[in-house]
Amino acid sequence: MNKLPEVKLVKQFKSDQSLLICFDESNANFKALGLSEAQLNYISKRKEAKKDLAVIQNLDHQVFVALPGEELKPNVAEWYRRLGAKLVKTLRDENCSTLSIDLGKEELTLAATEGFVLGQYSFDKYFTSADKAKKPINVELTEAVSAEAIEELSNTNKFVYAARTWVNEPQSYLNATNFAVEIRAAAESVGIEVDIWTKDKIVKEKMGGLLAVNRGSEVPPAFAILKWNPKNATNTKPVVLVGKGVVYDTGGLSLKPTANSMDIMKCDMGGAAAMVGSICSIAANKLPKQVIALIPLTDNRPGKDAYAPGDVITMYDGTTVEVLNTDAEGRMIMADALAYAKKHLNPMLTIDAATLTGAAERAIGAHASIAMGNAEEASMKLLEEKGFETFERVVNFPFWDEYYEEMKSSIADLKNIGGATAGMITAGKFLEHFAPKPYIHIDIAGPAFINAESHYLSKGGTGVGVRLLYSYIKSL
Ligand code: BES
Ligand code: ZN
Ligand code: ZN
Repeated sequence: MNKLPEVKLVKQFKSDQSLLICFDESNANFKALGLSEAQLNYISKRKEAKKDLAVIQNLDHQVFVALPGEELKPNVAEWYRRLGAKLVKTLRDENCSTLSIDLGKEELTLAATEGFVLGQYSFDKYFTSADKAKKPINVELTEAVSAEAIEELSNTNKFVYAARTWVNEPQSYLNATNFAVEIRAAAESVGIEVDIWTKDKIVKEKMGGLLAVNRGSEVPPAFAILKWNPKNATNTKPVVLVGKGVVYDTGGLSLKPTANSMDIMKCDMGGAAAMVGSICSIAANKLPKQVIALIPLTDNRPGKDAYAPGDVITMYDGTTVEVLNTDAEGRMIMADALAYAKKHLNPMLTIDAATLTGAAERAIGAHASIAMGNAEEASMKLLEEKGFETFERVVNFPFWDEYYEEMKSSIADLKNIGGATAGMITAGKFLEHFAPKPYIHIDIAGPAFINAESHYLSKGGTGVGVRLLYSYIKSL
């Protein structure tokens, strides 16, 4: 993973350093540029032509003048994030090491900084040639921005980077055991209490769903419990986060095809990456919220003891499930984690994130996650709002009981697949059976992993969920 660029507060910008600035003649940093009439005319012309930038080329640095127009509505911050990301390539070509940013208002400067930092992420670990490893371009900001806000942004960016890297790591490195080690290290680095169950404990506790999925694997399962419980917490009951940690999904005996399917299934722990990233950024920023994250970890393989279509599994809470497709494994392991929350944690709210269904991806593509739940309407609405603000967009789907009827088995309490339609909802209703109330399920199968870069998102793992849940929980 490339290094996270630093964001520093300085008294004054250096005049020989590249700068991203707003077009505002009353702004002190803009005035200090002492632009000529010709340069000001050039900026005006660019603005009239509805360009988003005017670039003034100096001998050793560039001045980028942001020219926001009407098209930035309705999400101004997103326009600035994208603008920040747009500068990365140019500045890399120029071998630039620091960019100064002043966009007049704190929120805009921070948004451009966020896009500029996230836009620099790349996953370089497996390149043998050193020049593929990109040097970070650091950021300098002046007083208009508070030190606390910079610290907060850097902490969330750090865990977006971590979440992306976990998703990008292939299972040849990031198996369940190694992921558990990495989760522990990340969580302990920010003061989170960590307990990781190994297979013995999972067997003793009878987590039947997690054990069933793991049966075809050579690598044992793990179950991570992360607790952030600050003294000044404003909630007496915890918010519980559950993340799907299928480190690799072959489909099991219901084997997946390779193209556009098994070949991207290292991303199937995207929910785990999102939830670990979220709780770690919450702890790093010392949010006064009690939060617990539960992460069931395994791969899903067709090994010789693999669970098979037709099997009946007794889950952690005693529910029996007829397995009709071993590729619907996410819900098997998530159900046990949700049932653990119900039995032991008395949550104020339980939220899960999972790359759960191809149906979610087909319905909405990579542009949004699909949420559903039995939480109050206001909680569901707030999630959509935060989704729009962070631009990790969320669309709420219905969660009617008719969908649950499809999950009833003729020989056991439930079966693990529904009918041919609305697969993302029937999967959610399956999970709701095990979850404490109130409950929100987020299917991130679409946006977790993308096949081409897009603004500040690089190809591959996006880290989706970290920024969303950080801002959602902060606002609860
Ligand atoms: N991990 C997949 C879902 C997925 C698909 C994630 C595409 C990311 C991108 C999940 O375990 C799965 O295979 N679901 C099945 C369920 C079906 C058998 C009911 C699916 O969606 O096809
Ligand atoms: Zn699957
Ligand atoms: Zn899966």
